[in-house]
Amino acid sequence: MHYWTPEGRQVLDAVAGLWCVNAGHGRKEISDAVSKQIATMEYAPPFQMGHPTAFKLANEVASWLPRDMGHVFFTNSGSESVDTALKIALAYHRARGEASRTRFIGRERGYHGVGFGGISVGGMVNNRKWFGSMLPGVDHLPHTHDLAKNAYTRGMPEHGANLADELERIVALHDASNIAAVIVEPVAGSTGVLIPPKGYLERLRSICTKHGILLIFDEVITGFGRLGAPFGTGFFGVQPDMITMAKGLTTVPCRWGPSRRATRSTTLSCRARKGPSNCSTATRIRRIRWPARRASRRRRSTARKTAHARQRHGAVLGRWRALAEGLAARDRPAQPRLIGAVELDPIPASRDCAATTRSCARSSRDCWCA
Ligand SMILES: Cc1ncc(COP(=O)(O)O)c(C=O)c1O
Repeated sequence: MHYWTPEGRQVLDAVAGLWCVNAGHGRKEISDAVSKQIATMEYAPPFQMGHPTAFKLANEVASWLPRDMGHVFFTNSGSESVDTALKIALAYHRARGEASRTRFIGRERGYHGVGFGGISVGGMVNNRKWFGSMLPGVDHLPHTHDLAKNAYTRGMPEHGANLADELERIVALHDASNIAAVIVEPVAGSTGVLIPPKGYLERLRSICTKHGILLIFDEVITGFGRLGAPFGTGFFGVQPDMITMAKGLTTVPCRWGPSRRATRSTTLSCRARKGPSNCSTATRIRRIRWPARRASRRRRSTARKTAHARQRHGAVLGRWRALAEGLAARDRPAQPRLIGAVELDPIPASRDCAATTRSCARSSRDCWCA
């Protein structure tokens, strides 16, 4: 809970680092769990196999969320969670046959991390002004910080729910068929703590539902108990389609490199690819039902791809066998360096010299005949 200055003065860390050390600093339980996991298994390749603890953690995360938010996609940071959520939104609409839904709507004064997606939907000018056009097709709702009406009020502001109606204006401008998702922080945290006006989030939810637009809550700050409830969705009683989270998930004892999704990470304290699973995106997007015709086309194309892959595998195997036989036939053990040379740039038979080192034309570095 505290830092100490060089003079020994105790400082209460009320912000918990950067809203991330939610369980407090120096917790023995956490460091024990981290070291135990590192000693047990610090890494497993995520592409070919899963790991039980990834599923355990996914279930645990899902248990804190509304019942129908049952899919968890692990990433390594809030920024990556945000960009992943935006990508999921695009892919979701495309898979349902609505590929024209590509636009995103963020909010002024919003912060969604440092990825290109995040800075594009974010609304902090100093984070945006250096990076050119960023993602195309992004609009911004107005922020809700209305000091003239809400100064010195306690709790949720009375004024400002109508600011959500700006979404209707943006929809009227572009048409809903072009809009993929709206992303907001339930409580904005990076340009002052901006609590949503009463009724605002509900209004956003109903407009999104009306137009088939996905609503993403960025709960990187508001998640893991910072509002007194596990997540903002429960606190405000408004359910988004996706939630991005980070920070409090590991309370930051280990944050290293990237990982991708539930099956690709290991545990709370040790990430699958290069670090701990710090963040995740929980989704409640409806199951995509493929139309029957598309399903059969997909089956056909999968069969074609499998046959092609087998054919290629056979050809590659054949080449390597021939190579291995060729090398075995030589009267000396093959050097690893030679394998590449033979495969990529076959040495003409005339050069397959019986020469001595002295008469060989090649430099001693390249000479494999000496
Ligand atoms: C709302 C929100 N989204 C995303 C992020 C980015 O998270 P990270 O720093 O883990 O990339 C932050 C970071 O403060 C944040 O407050």
